[in-house]
Amino acid sequence: MRRLLITGAGGFLGWNLCSLLAAEWEVVGIVRSRAAALESVRGIVLDLTDSVRLRQVFHEVRPDGVIHAAAMAKPDDCELHPRESARINVDTPILLAGLCAQARIPLVFTSSDLVFDGRNPPYREEDPVSPVSLYGEQKARAEAGILERYPDAAVCRMALMFGDGGPHGESFLGPMLRAMRRGDELKLFVDEVRTPLWGRDAAMGLALALHRASGILHLGGTERISRYHFGLMIRDALDIRGSRLTPSHQRDVSTRAPRPPDVSLDISRARRLGFRPTPLMEALQRLKGAWQSPRSGERA
Ligand SMILES: NC(=O)c1ccc[n+]([C@@H]2O[C@H](COP(=O)([O-])OP(=O)(O)OC[C@H]3O[C@@H](n4cnc5c(N)ncnc54)[C@H](OP(=O)(O)O)[C@@H]3O)[C@@H](O)[C@H]2O)c1
Repeated sequence: MRRLLITGAGGFLGWNLCSLLAAEWEVVGIVRSRAAALESVRGIVLDLTDSVRLRQVFHEVRPDGVIHAAAMAKPDDCELHPRESARINVDTPILLAGLCAQARIPLVFTSSDLVFDGRNPPYREEDPVSPVSLYGEQKARAEAGILERYPDAAVCRMALMFGDGGPHGESFLGPMLRAMRRGDELKLFVDEVRTPLWGRDAAMGLALALHRASGILHLGGTERISRYHFGLMIRDALDIRGSRLTPSHQRDVSTRAPRPPDVSLDISRARRLGFRPTPLMEALQRLKGAWQSPRSGERA
């Protein structure tokens, strides 16, 4: 079996990747503080910003492919920790690109729709980047650095993701569902539009990229929807009574990182490669079905 190195293996996307790919690959997962997501995955504890150890581990593991899903993934955290976030979000992926280029193995990097300012959606791969937050800027710098060192790498810009994240990871859906069930008021933006993507589909898109793509690839969902309308859909699909969703505007809520209004992704290129994301309502109903099965405790 060929060996796949997945970084961020304890995180939300890492769990989805490990769940999907552990049957096809011998998966080695890099984790930092959380445990490896699956028993079938060999976990290696490593702070990826330790470049000496990262080189050592890379040469010891001798992977046949790498999916890099580790990051400081919350824009507000990046604004709060600019130097630390630059190390993991920019320096580490560029170092990995050099290692993969030398070893001539495929590399998939998880970038973000937040490389765009949200004023000219939907965005295609060739549109110029225009980040408004430090996180978006770091992803854009990483993309450029990776492709300079390794033009055959696949740089996948991920849309907002939702779904199950395994025992340790979670998407924004987890805190949202808990708040909805408690009956807390949730202020959700009507003027922030995304193309949300089910984590399971995201993993499938990245697997496709590993086999078939190089350069930039947009991986988003099928629908353009505001946070507020997505909240209503989640409430209805999961039948959460007593939730209080209040429509609000970006200007009403202050956040540390600036937020672009509409970073909808055009996924035509991924579609041509065979990417078929699940419609939102269907994905939510399938999540509900999985959570209600007697074998699985509800995680979100
Ligand atoms: N979630 C989304 O909606 C979304 C949207 C667009 C793009 N993305 C991108 O998709 C990727 C995966 O995101 P996610 O939602 O799965 O994030 P996540 O759940 O926060 O997982 C990220 C993982 O990276 C690990 N990590 C962070 N710093 C590290 C370090 N110095 N050394 C080793 N591991 C480190 C974390 O480990 P610890 O927890 O142990 O620190 C965590 O498990 C990221 O590149 C993110 O920027 C996510």
